[in-house]
Amino acid sequence: MVKKYIDTHKEQFLNELIELLKIPSVSADPKYKKDVADAAEFLKVKFEDLDVDRVEIIPTKGHPVVYAEKIIDKNLPTILVYGHYDVQPADPIELWESGPFEPVIKPTKIHPEGAIFARGACDDKGQMYMHLKAFEAMVKTNSLPCNAKFIIEGEEEVGSENLETFIKENIEMLAADIILVSDTGMIAKDVPSVTTGLRGLSYVEVAVTGPNRDLHSGLYGGAVANPINILTKMIASLQDENNHIVIPGFYDDVLEISQEERNEMARAPFSENDYCEAIDIRETAGEKGFSTLERATIRPTLDVNGIWGGYIGEGAKTVLPSQAFAKISMRLVPNQDPNKITKLFQDHFESIAPKSVRVKVTPHHGGEPALTPIDSFAYKAASQAMEESFGKKPIPMRSGGSIPIISMFEKVLGTKTILMGFGLDSDAIHSPNEHYGLFNYYKGIETIPLFYKYFANQK
Ligand code: BES
Ligand code: MN
Ligand code: MN
Repeated sequence: MVKKYIDTHKEQFLNELIELLKIPSVSADPKYKKDVADAAEFLKVKFEDLDVDRVEIIPTKGHPVVYAEKIIDKNLPTILVYGHYDVQPADPIELWESGPFEPVIKPTKIHPEGAIFARGACDDKGQMYMHLKAFEAMVKTNSLPCNAKFIIEGEEEVGSENLETFIKENIEMLAADIILVSDTGMIAKDVPSVTTGLRGLSYVEVAVTGPNRDLHSGLYGGAVANPINILTKMIASLQDENNHIVIPGFYDDVLEISQEERNEMARAPFSENDYCEAIDIRETAGEKGFSTLERATIRPTLDVNGIWGGYIGEGAKTVLPSQAFAKISMRLVPNQDPNKITKLFQDHFESIAPKSVRVKVTPHHGGEPALTPIDSFAYKAASQAMEESFGKKPIPMRSGGSIPIISMFEKVLGTKTILMGFGLDSDAIHSPNEHYGLFNYYKGIETIPLFYKYFANQK
């Protein structure tokens, strides 16, 4: 019955997502504050159509949280769905083939049946909205098997700092047996997987200051330290020839995984060739002794995300800049503590600065890594649900991305999470031309009620 409802409402489900994607709810840019609020309002109105007991837009110090619930029987289990309605900035806008907030449906090599192109199509509006539509299908066919709560936030892409306070203040309201999240990916369209871990994040901005003003690079060049030269040297020194990070203590808390688990990971289908081809590189690079998949999931990293300083305008200007800057992220793995790592970075970076410059390290938001068990009822329910909808048992798979609130949920609420994502690496999240396969959208809507069914059954 649920399946039939979904099949007969596909067009409506898609049209609603298109409307949501037209709202530029970019959380990072204050210019879009009203649009972010509009996206919250859109969801509230949609929830109101779904016979929920309660739906509210709850303000925070930043962007609001949309909360909804339907409690059919206090003795039944409760699923808390988490998602986010905010999106990343669309820049660089000139690289989009169609407007980031003017959704279009086009076929791609991987999605011959069509994919929807827009900022947030996959991350996370498309994946989050699957949950509303799956819930609709259950409610309208009288087959909701347990209680459902929804917490949809507007600040995931900026670190979820206010959501942390929110969950601390609403522990009872958010009480649940499991948290269900679709904000990750799967291995391939025909290789379903359940995400079993996320990396954490430490993010810093560094400033290197030399002379008190930009200098003539002929008059002073050679005698005064150039902050850009120094900064790039300092950054280069953070990794050795094996791409091992040399910050003292950096690896101390890294949870090494067993050879057995590494062997298990290596069974996931993966083609080094296809991987390179998809992003147009000749070969991969990373920490010695680890495979590409391992480097991108179970090992910590250090990457420059942006670097600037000096003259970058037209033509040549001979200048020895006064300052240089960089934004640096470190992806962390289970047991590494972002605050501790930030401190280690700061101490080390200051200690390697030559006397000719001054160095300032400013920490940004971070996030803790997360691990989810695979021997739980909930994991089994997710596995059974995917097996039924894909016709194939999903593979447990760690992911390299971060969702900082997941570890907070466990710490504050004591509730575990299931990361059942339907995106693909090729969906270009955070990049120009982000898209989400229609196949994946509908498959998600089909799989979610199966999770509810199996999860409610097992309890
Ligand atoms: N949904 C992503 C994280 C993600 C994507 C995890 C794919 C696994 C697979 C999330 O919206 C995101 O982008 N998180 C940020 C962290 C945040 C602190 C800005 C990230 O990972 O960079
Ligand atoms: Mn996301
Ligand atoms: Mn994101």
